[in-house]
Amino acid sequence: MMEVLILPQDVAAELVARHILTLIQHKPDAVLGLATGSTPLPVYRALERLIAEWEVDTSRVRGFALDEYVGLPEGHPQSYRAVITREVIEPLRLTPSQIRVPNGATETIKDAPAEYEAEIAASGGVDLQLLGLGGNGHIGFNEPGSSLGSSTRVKTLTAQTRHDNARFFPSEDEVPRHCITQGVSTILKARHLVLLAFGESKAQAVAAAVEGPISASNPASALQLHPHTTVLVDEAAARHL
Ligand code: GLP
Repeated sequence: MMEVLILPQDVAAELVARHILTLIQHKPDAVLGLATGSTPLPVYRALERLIAEWEVDTSRVRGFALDEYVGLPEGHPQSYRAVITREVIEPLRLTPSQIRVPNGATETIKDAPAEYEAEIAASGGVDLQLLGLGGNGHIGFNEPGSSLGSSTRVKTLTAQTRHDNARFFPSEDEVPRHCITQGVSTILKARHLVLLAFGESKAQAVAAAVEGPISASNPASALQLHPHTTVLVDEAAARHL
């Protein structure tokens, strides 16, 4: 079942953060699915504030990131490990071992997908998965055309996504060509999916995801198959609904 909430971005972020902390209060070893990109940042900032205000113990929380670039040198500031460290681990005062990010090192990439799937399974599964949405409907790095039954694997980034993400790199040429990402079916195994999308640039992808046919041409449309998906969008992103 998909529930759609149309709210201003800051209100949506606050609501999601409160929901996550309530989950942690009931289940101190909750497993969170983390997303990168700019969309979830207000959620992480609200969490930072509320953890202090509510005095929530997060020492047993665990988390899994959706994806990582392949082949960036260790510690590269735009690697998703570095982004998650800056935006989530440090401000939320977690220890690095609480949060896993797929290993994008080239030397071990062959075994990394199966290892990541095994780690997620061993954790007992993700309780709440945060998701951003690519302008073309991608979730994680599952670009249009991704098999809806896919598990964690190495993918080639589309020209569009490399172009979109070029703003984080000195030049478009330096954006990696490959990534390792949880698959669509990995994402669907989480017990609650929370998709966030704000701004007009996401409006087409939101409409296709929520009201379009379930299709690999918009991987986010697979969320319609999940028993518990919450979609939070602002007026601009809801424009074509
Ligand atoms: C990136 C990430 C996705 C993210 C998307 C949207 O490519 N791999 O997980 O949801 O782009 O990014 P933003 O939230 O900055 O619009």
